[in-house]
Amino acid sequence: MSDNSKTALLSQVIRERRSVKPASLEPGGIIPDEIILHALENATWAPNHGKTEPWYFIVYTGEGIRHLSEFQAQLYKQQGGEKFTEAKYTNLKANYLRASHVIAICMKRDPSGKIPEVEEVAAVATAVQNFALTLHAAGYGGYWTTGGVTYYESAKPFFGLGASDKLMGFYLCGVPVAQPPAPPRKPVEVKSAWVR
Ligand SMILES: Cc1cc2nc3c(=O)[nH]c(=O)nc-3n(C[C@H](O)[C@H](O)[C@H](O)COP(=O)(O)O)c2cc1C
Repeated sequence: MSDNSKTALLSQVIRERRSVKPASLEPGGIIPDEIILHALENATWAPNHGKTEPWYFIVYTGEGIRHLSEFQAQLYKQQGGEKFTEAKYTNLKANYLRASHVIAICMKRDPSGKIPEVEEVAAVATAVQNFALTLHAAGYGGYWTTGGVTYYESAKPFFGLGASDKLMGFYLCGVPVAQPPAPPRKPVEVKSAWVR
């Protein structure tokens, strides 16, 4: 493949990828496990400082999703406090059950602590983008959510995470029924500056 067509193909995949929310996922739609595995393998090719490879992905599917959504909804009920709403509680369960696979996105901090936390988080985010692009290129989709119990310290042990690690959210994956419209992007001129 020539360099030009490689760039064109990559640009197409990058620009076409959309966050596909649960309402736009086919109920009962299944992604083959091999596709998820391939997307996770591509995720692990992301750049990372100091070769720490700080990403860790926990894949829930089938009964695993039911277990996860039950855990999440119960913890939210116990600790949601003033922000608790019955609708959110019900949605938390229903949304997860529409997914074919749910990936818990984790940052496992390198024990040496030599790399600043922000860089470890950044490396995980680049890995997630590799995952999302691969999923889209394979004809599937989903979205990254930081809702639910993502930021509850008390949720960490469920995912085997320690105090220095972070749960960074969940990637709900499934079979899109439609391509959502692209949210507008500001022109690159507004979002960059050149110094010559
Ligand atoms: C770190 C991160 C967290 C996100 N969390 C949520 C979320 O909790 N709920 C949600 O609806 N979308 C979430 N999104 C998806 C954004 O809403 C979505 O990327 C944005 O609307 C742009 O749409 P696009 O991805 O189709 O370009 C998140 C995206 C990122 C990168």
